[in-house]
Amino acid sequence: MYQVPRGTRDFTPNEMKKRRYVEENMKKTFISFGYNEIQTPTFENLELFTVKSGDSIIGEIYDFSDKGGRKLALRPELTAPVIRFYVEKLQMEPKPLKLFYFGNCFRYDRPQKGRYREFQQAGCEMIGADTPESYAELIALTYNILENVGLKNITLNIGNLNIINSMFSKIKISGEVKKELLPLIDKSQFEEVYTILCKENVSEKNASMFIEILQTPDINKISDFIKEDASAIEELSNLKKILHHLKNSFKISNYQIKMSIVRGLDYYKGLVFEIDAPVLGAEKQLCGGGAYELISLFGGRDTPTAGFAIGFDRTILALETEQFVFPVPKTDVYIIPVNEETIGKSIELAQQLRKEGVITEVDLLRRGVGKSLKHANSKNSEKAIIIGPKELEKDSVTFRDMKTGNQQLIKIAKILSYFKSS
Ligand code: HAM
Repeated sequence: MYQVPRGTRDFTPNEMKKRRYVEENMKKTFISFGYNEIQTPTFENLELFTVKSGDSIIGEIYDFSDKGGRKLALRPELTAPVIRFYVEKLQMEPKPLKLFYFGNCFRYDRPQKGRYREFQQAGCEMIGADTPESYAELIALTYNILENVGLKNITLNIGNLNIINSMFSKIKISGEVKKELLPLIDKSQFEEVYTILCKENVSEKNASMFIEILQTPDINKISDFIKEDASAIEELSNLKKILHHLKNSFKISNYQIKMSIVRGLDYYKGLVFEIDAPVLGAEKQLCGGGAYELISLFGGRDTPTAGFAIGFDRTILALETEQFVFPVPKTDVYIIPVNEETIGKSIELAQQLRKEGVITEVDLLRRGVGKSLKHANSKNSEKAIIIGPKELEKDSVTFRDMKTGNQQLIKIAKILSYFKSS
């Protein structure tokens, strides 16, 4: 027996129905905010991903050489590809340029529930805007997307990398030590952070204060800690404006300031945010995003960029855990020819109904009325049409309501008008 490769999945018709439902719903919200969809290739030149992060990222991605000896990688995310596309072809577009995408991503992660080697992201990039209202809109967009798909329990955390950098400067920590501390901070491993800070001769008072500020939702306390740094104070004042718009205009007040949000990817600067679904446990992060810099690195004219990506698979898992009722695949009408003679007419009627947008199936196995009705039931068919030669002589068919079992003789023309009006 062959099996799917480790960390990948097959999707049944039921699962695909759920996924397409969520995708369509998300698309509607993206579009309602004036975003337009784009698509980029599944693989890119490897360098696109190493140029910012260095070769260390290669351990985490699927890289390979093609027959021409080109070094390529299956995309681990879509921000770098979208910015590559922008620099190549879209720089002249009016700003802000709002682009969204759905795409499969590949990471050489250790698979577990909610963590796969092939997974789907729904994301967007906003190019050419960095006002507080543009950032508030970006955060509101991801929040609204997750709300609109039906999630009830999500938490939004907002941080800022310029402010955390200023906090590091204040306690005189930089370089390798900072690099070592960031992942620990991201995972809220504050005891380890404290130990390292003390080893680096940060006073106990400053180390405790630094860790407290990383966790406090109190903007005044943060402001007090970085008060000597004018640019960080300005950043904080912009953050306040973002929060003001979120709360007062977008009516989203379910957020937390969290300076310990540092994000794993190397291109972020300034605003960062994450949305979690606590029901998911260990792999609870549904969405990550923020402001970042890649355009100049890719040879383009510098302009502000920000975006986010939602883990599509985790969104489905969270909805399932919250017992969300998804639509299931169904057939509107199941047509059963009672013998070979009426097959042609059955197909003709099916074609007419399909033209009206009615999901119509014709029995293809000649298994008799009883068994066909059973099959129609298993396909969640709402109606069945049984076509026999005698009824056909009167331009009529038997129309059966699958829920009640009621049957009546109906003129074919009436069936068409029934579905036209419903
Ligand atoms: P990211 O946080 O690496 O950000 O990924 C975004 C989301 O993808 C995560 O929050 C998570 O839900 C989902 N995800 C990540 N890895 C896996 C995995 N192995 N299995 C299942 N789901 C996963 C980015 O990728 C950035 N490009 C987001 C962005 C766009 N920033 C600016 N613009």
